[in-house]
Amino acid sequence: MMNRLNQSEVYEYWTRQAREHGRSPSASWSDHRVIEMEISEIAKYLTDGDKVLDVGCANGYSSLRFACVRRVQLRGLDYVPEMIEQARAQLAAMQDRLVGSVEFDVGDITQLKERLNSYDKVIVVRVLINLGTWERQLLGLRECIRVLKPGGLLLLSEATLQGWRRLNALRKEWGMEDIPMPLFNQYIDEEKVIAAVGSEATLLEISNFASTYYVGTRVLKPLLAQATHAPVSVADPGAEWNRWFSQLPPAGDYGTQKLFVFRKP
Ligand SMILES: C[S@@+](CC[C@H](N)C(=O)[O-])C[C@H]1O[C@@H](n2cnc3c(N)ncnc32)[C@H](O)[C@@H]1O
Repeated sequence: MMNRLNQSEVYEYWTRQAREHGRSPSASWSDHRVIEMEISEIAKYLTDGDKVLDVGCANGYSSLRFACVRRVQLRGLDYVPEMIEQARAQLAAMQDRLVGSVEFDVGDITQLKERLNSYDKVIVVRVLINLGTWERQLLGLRECIRVLKPGGLLLLSEATLQGWRRLNALRKEWGMEDIPMPLFNQYIDEEKVIAAVGSEATLLEISNFASTYYVGTRVLKPLLAQATHAPVSVADPGAEWNRWFSQLPPAGDYGTQKLFVFRKP
C-alpha cells in the first residue's frame, strides 16, 4: 500500500492547485459536474439573511455562486493564501452579479478564529478529507459546530469510506479494480462522524445527491468504453454522458461524495 501524504505535502498540493488552476473550479476538483450538483444541493439549505461561514473555500468558486442566488452574508476561509488571493480577485470580478455579500480570509479549520455561536450555516465541502487523521477531522468538525449559532446548520459534503467501498463493490461485480483513494485524502468514516457529532448536533439528513452520477460515470462509462475500445475520462465535465447523468435523480448509496446536514441544538 502506498503512503498517504503528510500534512505539509497536502498543503503543498493545494498551493500547487491554486497556482496551476487560478480561478477555475479545477483548483478544487476536476469533476465540475459534482461541484455543480453540490452547489445546488447546499443552496437549498441557505436562506436570505443567513450569516454563512464556508470553511476550506479554495478559490471561492462555490462560495461566490451561493452569493449569486441567496442574499447571504458569507465569509470564506482557506488555509492556502494563494487560494484566498484567487478568491478575492474573482470576488472583485463578480461583484455586480452578487445578491449577497462575500469576504475571504486565510483560516484553518482546526483552529478557527471565529467566535462561539456566530453563524447560521457553516459549509464544509471536501475539507475534512485533507486533514490526515480522525483526530484532526474531529477537531475540525468540533470547531465548525462551536462557531454555529444554536439552531444553526452544518452542511458537510465529504467523500466517505462507506460510499467509496459500495461503489467499488459495484465495480467489482463487473471485474473492475477499486478506484484508489487519492494519496492526499483520508475519506471520512461516516459512522464515526455521526456517532461523534451526535452529542453536539442532530443529524437531520444524509443526501446521496451524486449516487446515480457515480454509477453512470464510474461504473457504466468505463464498462462501455471497455466494450467499444473508446478512451475514457470518468470525470470529463465536457462529456455529454456526464452531463446526462448529472441531471438524473439520485438513487441508491453509491456516491463517494455525500452531504450530511446537522443542526446544533
Ligand atoms: C477540495 S477543496 C474544497 C473546495 C471548496 N470547498 C468547494 O466547495 O469547491 C479543499 C480545500 O480545503 C483547503 N484546506 C485543506 N486543509 C485545510 C485546513 N486545515 N483549513 C482550511 N482549509 C483547508 C485546501 O486548501 C483546499 O482549498
